[in-house]
Amino acid sequence: MKGLILSGGKGTRLRPITYTSAKQLVPVANKPVLFRVIEALKDAGINDIGIVIGDTGNEVRSAVGDGSRWNVNITYIPQEAPLGLAHAVKISRDFIGDERFALFLGDNCIEGGVSKLLNGFAASDWNAQIVLKEVVNPQQYGVAELKHDGSIERLTEKPRTPRSNLALVGIYMFDQHIWEAVEAIKPSWRGELEITDAIQWLVEHGYRVYPYVHNGWWIDTGKRADMLDANRLVLEELEPRIEGYVDRDSQLVGKVTIEAGAEIINSVIRGPAIIGEHTRIVNSYVGPFTSIYHHCQIEESEIEHSIVLEHSEIVRIPHRIEDSLIGRNVQIHTSPMKPKAYRLMLGDNSDIGLL
Ligand code: G1P
Repeated sequence: MKGLILSGGKGTRLRPITYTSAKQLVPVANKPVLFRVIEALKDAGINDIGIVIGDTGNEVRSAVGDGSRWNVNITYIPQEAPLGLAHAVKISRDFIGDERFALFLGDNCIEGGVSKLLNGFAASDWNAQIVLKEVVNPQQYGVAELKHDGSIERLTEKPRTPRSNLALVGIYMFDQHIWEAVEAIKPSWRGELEITDAIQWLVEHGYRVYPYVHNGWWIDTGKRADMLDANRLVLEELEPRIEGYVDRDSQLVGKVTIEAGAEIINSVIRGPAIIGEHTRIVNSYVGPFTSIYHHCQIEESEIEHSIVLEHSEIVRIPHRIEDSLIGRNVQIHTSPMKPKAYRLMLGDNSDIGLL
């Protein structure tokens, strides 16, 4: 089996972070979501992986490289415009050939790997397999209606009045019949070739599409709250390890990972939390569900349930920072300058909640 990961899109709901970076490269527990997807495919025994890239292609290429870090072969497939998931599949035909393959959205995070799922499909005679998950807001997703016997009745992309609460998770498995489907379908109202429509075409034409209902957690990391949720859930699964320096005046409580070169000085870290390489935490408190990426500095401050990206500094902040997603090279500090005032330089679409 081959793997195909979609890593295009503009990430509008994660602006301003995504003005300068691909959404799939935002880290969850200090590892980009895209890397987690590559690892999930590799763990399932897939070594040939195509990545469909768009406007942020150069950044994805330089972060992922040729795949040798994971011992996989990566082929990049540029998509000239975001014309839909089924369009991305269509332009990947040369790469996939007639093999069975797994299609993964590069911003999806799922509990517990996909090896069993993929291996089950590889050994089956199903033409396609989809993954479903019960959600409270099905109108935001592709939605599946199942018959009494558990087979698929119908799939609809983002229905206004959903007839079930089963959403299509961004993980799909196909055989060569998907090529007929992606050629046959027409663009949807949003002008995109929808993968949901292609699978519906398979169902209508009598192909065998197996609906697997996933019971663990699944998060499509499109917005800040989703990123924080995914971060929380992945941190809970993480095996703690201490590779950096923790001084005697500091206290680590619960599942805490300190990566190589990090320094914890006179601070309390309450897990689950991860502190990245060469990050310094001084006279501070880092609370549960927090990931601080590499080369950051947290001094005389408190932070909890947050993600901080690389090379950022948080210094002498009098109130605890919570529920925050802080980008790269961000500086947050108090200043002795008079008059006492907020002095801000914020990117477009920033979102600040002050006391
Ligand atoms: C896409 C699919 C949708 C699926 C979702 C999963 O939506 O079109 O069917 O449920 O991914 O993340 P999009 O991210 O394009 O809104």
